[in-house]
Amino acid sequence: MKAIILVGGQGTRLRPLSINTPKSMVPVLNVPFLSHVLRYLSSCGIKDIILTQGHLAAPIEQYFGNGQSLGVNLVYSVEHEALGTAGAIKNAERYLDDTFITLNGDIFTHLDLSAMLRAHRDKKALVSIALTPVDDPTKYGLVETADGGRVSRFLEKPSPAQITTNMINAGTYIIEPEVLKYIPAGENHSFERQLFPRLLNECQAVYAYPSSAYWIDIGSPEKYSQLNRDLLCGEGGDFGFSRGNEIVIGRGCQLHPTARISGPVLVGENCIIGANACIAGPVVIGAECRIEDEATLTESVIWQNVTIGAECKVVSSIIANHCHLKAGGKYENVVLGDNVTAECGCAPEPGSKISPGILMI
Ligand code: GTP
Repeated sequence: MKAIILVGGQGTRLRPLSINTPKSMVPVLNVPFLSHVLRYLSSCGIKDIILTQGHLAAPIEQYFGNGQSLGVNLVYSVEHEALGTAGAIKNAERYLDDTFITLNGDIFTHLDLSAMLRAHRDKKALVSIALTPVDDPTKYGLVETADGGRVSRFLEKPSPAQITTNMINAGTYIIEPEVLKYIPAGENHSFERQLFPRLLNECQAVYAYPSSAYWIDIGSPEKYSQLNRDLLCGEGGDFGFSRGNEIVIGRGCQLHPTARISGPVLVGENCIIGANACIAGPVVIGAECRIEDEATLTESVIWQNVTIGAECKVVSSIIANHCHLKAGGKYENVVLGDNVTAECGCAPEPGSKISPGILMI
């Protein structure tokens, strides 16, 4: 069976991280997020994968090519203007001649796709929609179901008073190819707001597949951090650290003997960690970073080629590529885009999100 992954969105909620980097390419445990999704699909026996691309398409194809290095076969379907989630599938119709799986490209899950496919076939569904429980459904699309698991209603981003269930659309679907005839060609069309409600109106067989398997969408910096933390802390099964307190140091790193590191911590290749630097996991540090003397890093994700100056304190933050934080700064719960330079002693307000290329004083 083929899978199609939607990777063409703007990723506005993930800014500033997604300004230069497509959402599916942001590093998770130092490899692009999409690598984890492709490994998951491959582990489910799904090797033929179509990537539907729009915004920031080039870096994805440049990195993954035909998918051979991950043992999958990748083809690319590129949109010249955004076609929306369902429109993107219609645009890839030439690849879809049998039952297929569709995944949002910002979802990481351990959902059992074989069990979902069995349920889809048992119910003779036209579409099956994976559901997952969440604590706060107001940010998501709720899916109400009737007896037998048939979907009865969709409710996008409900107010607290409208909440009738905590089960949300988990962004993973099994779809019969007949559905493609309901999607207009060359137009922006949405699964959630247009296609699925129309199928319900026409009493088509749309079924829910509830699952409590691990699920997270990395659509916001908070969730992106959480996935890194969860994988480091051993919640990712085969996809992350196994024990939750490991320390993995890449090749070519130079660690000063007085540096203190408590896991879980992942350090990429060729990093330098200075005297009395303190790294308290869960922390990920990308390749070619420099953590200078007496700097402290706690619960953070650092991308590549970053310098954390002497005596800087970085807590619960995300620092993107090529940032340079000069000595003595304090960064708590901040998100810095690429190429931010911060002068000595800089201390942005907690919660700040700083665009790429800014000089902070
Ligand atoms: P936000 O702007 O933060 O809402 O993010 P987004 O643009 O990624 O939108 P959303 O999270 O709703 O999209 C869900 C999935 O569909 C993501 O994996 C997107 O990359 C993908 N997606 C959204 N719109 C399009 C589109 O027009 N074309 C393609 N190919 N994929 C899309």
